[in-house]
Amino acid sequence: MSCKVTFTEELRDGVFALSFTAAELTPPKPGQFVHIKCAEDGGARILRRPVSVCDFFGGGDGAEPELTVVFEVRGGGTKWLSERREDDELDVLGALGSGFPEVSGDILLAGGGLGIAPLLYAAQRAGTRAEAVLGFRSKERIILTGDFERLARRVEIATDDGSYGHGGTVAEPVRAALAERPFGAVFACGPRPMLRAVAEIAEERGVPCFVSLEERMACGVGACLGCAVKLKTADGEAVKRVCRDGPVFASGEVVW
Ligand SMILES: Cc1cc2nc3c(=O)[nH]c(=O)nc-3n(C[C@H](O)[C@H](O)[C@H](O)COP(=O)(O)OP(=O)(O)OC[C@H]3O[C@@H](n4cnc5c(N)ncnc54)[C@H](O)[C@@H]3O)c2cc1C
Ligand code: FES
Repeated sequence: MSCKVTFTEELRDGVFALSFTAAELTPPKPGQFVHIKCAEDGGARILRRPVSVCDFFGGGDGAEPELTVVFEVRGGGTKWLSERREDDELDVLGALGSGFPEVSGDILLAGGGLGIAPLLYAAQRAGTRAEAVLGFRSKERIILTGDFERLARRVEIATDDGSYGHGGTVAEPVRAALAERPFGAVFACGPRPMLRAVAEIAEERGVPCFVSLEERMACGVGACLGCAVKLKTADGEAVKRVCRDGPVFASGEVVW
């Protein structure tokens, strides 16, 4: 689908928000991603890169639907994306993937680093049913927390170095929140060790936990097995595709 860039902003050093519109955009599920064609090496290599849906506006009154992503420059693809400007065209597939499930009750969102991006859209959809624990390496790396504070009932920030909020990872605030009140589910996205810690705490409390896994992707639509991961099944283990069967999985399925 051909989309038009409507907004770009550098949120902090090397982290960008980018919005685009297209008449064909339909409301995504929280946790889904878009696969954006990015050129590298001045256009020598053109590959798609997966980026999570961070915000979505359904359009209306003559305005087309608009989708926002927030991403960090990691290599050539995301650098190219960071250089897009208003009115540029983007070739976008999606939204793709499974997304977080519909659950009843309150939802605890646990995010680390750029993993908080899809959780902002989950907060938008869950509104006051959502509480968030957001972890960053340090105060300088904090992004989007004001947006979470506008949407969620409660937001707690943790920094690894203790320069802002709770000192340490999100694990302790997650443990405290789950001990304090009942939640229908935990939705988590971030580095794998953080996901594992959150999943173990949720399991101890008997709260269903859903984690969004990141794998390098090629086709993004289930055709190449480039994003294969091993997951637990009733009969042992099975290979699943993060792009098609995920990226969101029940934490109990993940082979950590
Ligand atoms: C479902 C999904 C959703 C994602 N959502 C976001 C998001 O919202 N915001 C964001 O900043 N990033 C997100 N990512 C990660 C993003 O796709 C990668 O950073 C990007 O593809 C890197 O491309 P590049 O060409 O810039 O870097 P490359 O040159 O391809 O790689 C640079 C570095 O990034 C690592 N890397 C590349 N791709 C991935 C990947 N898929 N997962 C983990 N590490 C990777 C490489 O190992 C390498 O160390 C998501 C990934 C997935 C799978
Ligand atoms: S990226 Fe091709 S199957 Fe997932």
